[in-house]
Amino acid sequence: MRKILMIVAATLLSLLPGSARDSRIISIETDNNSLVLAVREDGSVYQLHYGARVSSSEFAAVPIRDGRYSAGSLAYPAAGGRFLDQPALHLQYADGTHNTELRYVSHGTVSTQGVLTTTVNLQDEIRKITVRLIYEAYPEEDVIVEHAEIVNGGTAPVTMLDYASSAISFRADSYLLSHVHGGWAKEMQLEHEQLGFGTKVIESRRGAQNTQCANPSFLLSLGTGELRENAGEVVAGALAWSGNYELRFDRTVDGRLTVLAGINPFSSAYPLAAGQTFRTPGMIWTWSQEGAGRASRNLHRWARRHALHSGGQMAPILLNSWEGAYFNFTADTILRMIDDAASMGLEMFVLDDGWFGNNHPRNSDAAGLGDWQVNRRKLPKGIGHLASYAHSKGLKFGIWIEPEMVNPKSDLARKHPEWVVGSRDRELYETRNQWILDLSNPAVQDFVFGVFDDVMKLSPDIDYVKWDCNREVLSFWSSYLGDEQDRFYVEYYQGLYSVMDRIRAKYPDVMIQCCSSGGGRVEYGELSWFDEIWTSDDTDAMERIAMQYATSLIYPACIMGSHVSTVPNHQTHAVTPLKFRFDVACQGRLGLELQPRLLSEEELALVRRCVGSYKTYRDIIETGDLYRLGSPLDSDFYGMMYVTPDRSRAVVFTYCLEFDTLGGEGHPFRLEGLDPGRKYKVTEQNVDRSCWWGDGASFTGAFLSSGAFAPSLPARYSSAVFVLEAQ
Ligand code: GLA
Repeated sequence: MRKILMIVAATLLSLLPGSARDSRIISIETDNNSLVLAVREDGSVYQLHYGARVSSSEFAAVPIRDGRYSAGSLAYPAAGGRFLDQPALHLQYADGTHNTELRYVSHGTVSTQGVLTTTVNLQDEIRKITVRLIYEAYPEEDVIVEHAEIVNGGTAPVTMLDYASSAISFRADSYLLSHVHGGWAKEMQLEHEQLGFGTKVIESRRGAQNTQCANPSFLLSLGTGELRENAGEVVAGALAWSGNYELRFDRTVDGRLTVLAGINPFSSAYPLAAGQTFRTPGMIWTWSQEGAGRASRNLHRWARRHALHSGGQMAPILLNSWEGAYFNFTADTILRMIDDAASMGLEMFVLDDGWFGNNHPRNSDAAGLGDWQVNRRKLPKGIGHLASYAHSKGLKFGIWIEPEMVNPKSDLARKHPEWVVGSRDRELYETRNQWILDLSNPAVQDFVFGVFDDVMKLSPDIDYVKWDCNREVLSFWSSYLGDEQDRFYVEYYQGLYSVMDRIRAKYPDVMIQCCSSGGGRVEYGELSWFDEIWTSDDTDAMERIAMQYATSLIYPACIMGSHVSTVPNHQTHAVTPLKFRFDVACQGRLGLELQPRLLSEEELALVRRCVGSYKTYRDIIETGDLYRLGSPLDSDFYGMMYVTPDRSRAVVFTYCLEFDTLGGEGHPFRLEGLDPGRKYKVTEQNVDRSCWWGDGASFTGAFLSSGAFAPSLPARYSSAVFVLEAQ
């Protein structure tokens, strides 16, 4: 209550313009983080601090001088005036000039359902440009989300050459950048690098599939020189934008590091008409003094409570038809798979690619995209027949679509050649035998919405849609945009977002997976509408351990699709034990992606057992806090655990990744997040004989965190899962 009163009081105070409170200081605070801005006498707004929670009034005394080599840490640096570095905002006016100088006008904070939103109004008086910097502070999660609104208050159009969402600066002895990169079936590869003088850029120019190269997120370890799990200052950032993005790290001669994050300006000199406002995507920030672990937990909690469409809802355990049937199926194949899914205790069947197209049947990836009518030869009784059969067996039913795409071999390509993206005076390049449709065009937006809407009309029993996107943009050109091609990359995604708004208005409860050749669209922009991501087409459990570890640095487990597939693995050809595959897939949203008919009786028994036990603890994964026990990248053993917010239950996953002579004697894991004084009963899952001597007994959290918890993991692929319940 006291806290609420304080927040209300602070809100009222900060709303008074030029009140008795020192209006020179603008303080954006969460429970443990502060971002402090200050207004200099000339009206320029500087960032003085981002990090630990501080008493911001003391910053009023800090002198703000122009440095010899730079203009310092401006809150939203604009090209012009004394500013020489990379700007957040770079405008070119109709008369050709490039100079913008933003000055403070006012600021205020409002509180809505516990979220404190501070708006700082800046203006270039001469050119009548207003910039609203908007900071949403989430107190309990220690997350601040910043975006900007750029308003052209002048009478002539302006061209936006750079229009970042956020610019935050740091001062530390060293800056270690950790970020992920990767391509198809090799997503989420973690890399660390010390940032020296100069610029490091992480970006996408792919137009679509913006994370199948690098992810718009990072961790920055300040002053420690290494990414530590439980100690040290770590800042995490993630941009919520699904199109081309740029994260820029500028280490300047004065020792500062400025991080600029936003839409990639590449081929996107965006015209802003007189009177028009442009809203940038949100940049998500958190700061932790307890290493990467705390930074991840902050983001996960924030995502579940405030950002995700379904906020950590339970996911049905599914069987997906892709690796078990590919394009080669009939209705009977699918009905049998539904029977098998039901008999294994699964909860949903998902019909993947291959169900549509008649003039150009979708029997391979060479034809059919765009023609979203049920293939009459494969499925003469339609989708409704399969979906209602699934429901009769107690399963939900899902279906695959890729509505942004078209195969040249399709009725759609013939009917609407003008919808295809690509330069008409050159070859129309294909990727996976397909072209991409121009979502900047409202007619295409209507079509894409219509694909979803019509598919939903195929049966009232459709509960889930897997939305795929299997190519990038090449040689871009939009017939709709004519001579304003620089709008394309931005308006493609504004178009997609408006389609998703329409879909969610009509279908708020349908689960939608965001897939893009695996993990080509894993970012917070899409996640306001989608319920889960398909992490990677690489389902090899050993590869997945590292990918899921890297995913967990920024994204919560409740969105992470992780499936058990067959061996030899279809991507890596590796053979791993079925239990190991389950123990890895159970870290996230569990599914199976195989042909059940090929499983032996013994394997089926293990499947039923693992599925049954997952049902008893999956709520811990989907709503609990994640603690990583080491890193799979620098140790032969790795563990991770989830703990419910009230610390009454936990699930612990442990793995041996490489043979180690001592593994059989028991590898110590120091469990975390437990209540030291409470006793927890430890139960290993899915085995008749446990690999830890303490199985079935109860121990204090302190004991379990001491290193005494040491399951025997004798060989590569040994794994064990334990559920802990407070007594
Ligand atoms: C992509 C997806 C797969 C599968 C195929 C279907 O590659 O990542 O999961 O849906 O498309 O063509």
